[in-house]
Amino acid sequence: MRNKITVIGAGHVGETVAFNCARLELGDVVLLDILDGVPQGKALDSFESSPIFGFDSNILGTNDYAETADSDVLVMTAGLARQPGMSRDDLFYKNLEIVETCIAQAAKLSPGAVIIVVTNPLDAMCEVARRASGFPRQRVIGMAGILDSARMRSFIARELGVSVENTHAFVLGGHGDSMVPLARYSTVAGIPITNLMPEDRVDAIIDRTRKGGGEIVSLLKTGSAYYAPGLAVAEMVEAIVKDKHKILPCAAYLEGEYGLSETYAGVPIQLGRTGMEKIVEIELTDDERDAFHASAESVKELIAMIPAATAT
Ligand code: NAI
Ligand code: 2OP
Repeated sequence: MRNKITVIGAGHVGETVAFNCARLELGDVVLLDILDGVPQGKALDSFESSPIFGFDSNILGTNDYAETADSDVLVMTAGLARQPGMSRDDLFYKNLEIVETCIAQAAKLSPGAVIIVVTNPLDAMCEVARRASGFPRQRVIGMAGILDSARMRSFIARELGVSVENTHAFVLGGHGDSMVPLARYSTVAGIPITNLMPEDRVDAIIDRTRKGGGEIVSLLKTGSAYYAPGLAVAEMVEAIVKDKHKILPCAAYLEGEYGLSETYAGVPIQLGRTGMEKIVEIELTDDERDAFHASAESVKELIAMIPAATAT
């Protein structure tokens, strides 16, 4: 039997996730949105590309949660996207309501699913989804670190004129301007980038990575990034449905790891069929730990704004 992957929200990110999950034959895909006709049209268009790509996954577009029942993975992308001049945190209250409503309905119908949250502000919306679903932390994780690391990797490759395949980048913390790209753990063919380029170029790459989401928003003017985010989610779905035990940077609920509790933050986790199998803890210098804790602190402030009425 094929895996079933539900994508909630058929906007730019949702359609990209759905299309790539189908194209990679990760399972049959259900694409759900509140807009009548939009998920149906996008699903049909994607399905009509299947003979060209040669994939046999089904893609169904719907407005009805009943179609999502017994999903293995629920991907939450519904919500408002950032507009120019709008921070991720401005989205907080509107998206809180959307995430709470959608996840409560979907989780009830797919009680064994792993939830991947994408909606911003990411780390706080993960906490809303964790509470609304009532799922254990292992099955409510967020996508951000893969995207932020991919951005950093692409900048490193372009700076050094090497293949992106040679690059590895490491980004910790919340998905916001206080994220912590770690140069020491970012490498080209195993060599730290700090050995390969001057300090000012490393600093420029770190700064551009932190502002990567905003850079796309200011260019697009009417929305935010979706190609790289959509593929980043597909990588997480693949790790889950293929039980790969893959270590990926994701937003995870911390219970003492890295000296932090009761908050989501981007950390390396091992991802498999049951969701988060473990959190990988790495050695940090005092400066790195301070930056990570400052980033987590800004997430905690947002989490404190979630109304107590949100189910726990
Ligand atoms: P979009 O505006 O293209 O799509 C959002 C979709 O959500 C729309 O189709 C809308 O009809 C739907 N929607 C709204 N309320 C709904 C509800 N109650 N039930 C079902 N569907 C509903 O936005 P886009 O570009 O797809 O972004 C989606 C979210 O993902 C935004 O919050 C954005 O900030 C976030 N994002 C997060 C990233 C990350 O790294 N975590 C990366 C990129 C985007
Ligand atoms: C991004 O980083 C908007 O969070 C989104 O592109």
